[in-house]
Amino acid sequence: MGRVANKVAIITGGASGIGECMVDLFSQEGAIVIAADINETALEVVSKKENVYGMKLNVSSDEDWASLAKEVNERFGKIDILVNNAGISSEKPYQDINLDDWQKMLAINGFGPFAGMKHVAPYMAAQKQGSIINISSYTAQIGQGFNHYSASKGAVRAISKAAATAFGSDGIRVNALFPGIIETPMTQALSTSKELLGRLIQATPLQRLGQPADIAKAALFLASDDSAYITGAELVIDGGFSAQ
Ligand SMILES: NC(=O)c1ccc[n+]([C@@H]2O[C@H](COP(=O)([O-])OP(=O)(O)OC[C@H]3O[C@@H](n4cnc5c(N)ncnc54)[C@H](O)[C@@H]3O)[C@@H](O)[C@H]2O)c1
Repeated sequence: MGRVANKVAIITGGASGIGECMVDLFSQEGAIVIAADINETALEVVSKKENVYGMKLNVSSDEDWASLAKEVNERFGKIDILVNNAGISSEKPYQDINLDDWQKMLAINGFGPFAGMKHVAPYMAAQKQGSIINISSYTAQIGQGFNHYSASKGAVRAISKAAATAFGSDGIRVNALFPGIIETPMTQALSTSKELLGRLIQATPLQRLGQPADIAKAALFLASDDSAYITGAELVIDGGFSAQ
């Protein structure tokens, strides 16, 4: 029996990087997985996997969320797990960040997870159980990256705690993960500089960068009944980088 056997899981940003790895792991562990993403081309590839259903979603759209949550509930009868993983990043220096940049970042990385919880929680509450996992970032916990990305991930941190308290009596658990630097398409630029890569590895106590599976395995634990009494928790997965 898989660790999330027969559970219905929505994973946003499921067509790439950490999200795609979660889609693979959760489906291997018995879940019916809805990979929700804005990238339709990448979704086509992911949807060919067993027990995986690709659905187009722009996480910053309230309307998209309302129809996706309704459709998943109608088609599969329930929603047990939501992983708010979709996100964007930016390398823009803080001097160049304007209001448009700020609003786009906060709309996708901040409103996205908020809207996901808002629209999915009622279906979870109806069956008095559910697990929500929000993907923040180590930049929400330490002074790393003075920009709109850090701000958006700080928002994820705050709304995760708030949702854990708001939804607890409905049997819904809400936890947040704080990845360090993980090798995915988002951080691809790093690999172009061997020197930078070497410095980052040196600066990490465990002496390597993270892999998508490092995050996916923690998400699986929080999604499964093994973590039945854990809510409002924050788990840093960064090889010890922020412990220094
Ligand atoms: N890679 C890292 O080092 C790292 C570190 C800390 C946190 N994170 C967070 O982990 C999450 C996944 O990152 P990743 O590295 O796998 O990135 P990625 O770029 O490989 O994947 C992100 C996915 O999100 C999707 N997406 C972007 N905007 C969307 C939108 N508006 N609606 C729906 N889907 C959208 C993309 O199409 C893509 O499939 C992000 O929230 C990111 O901020 C990543």
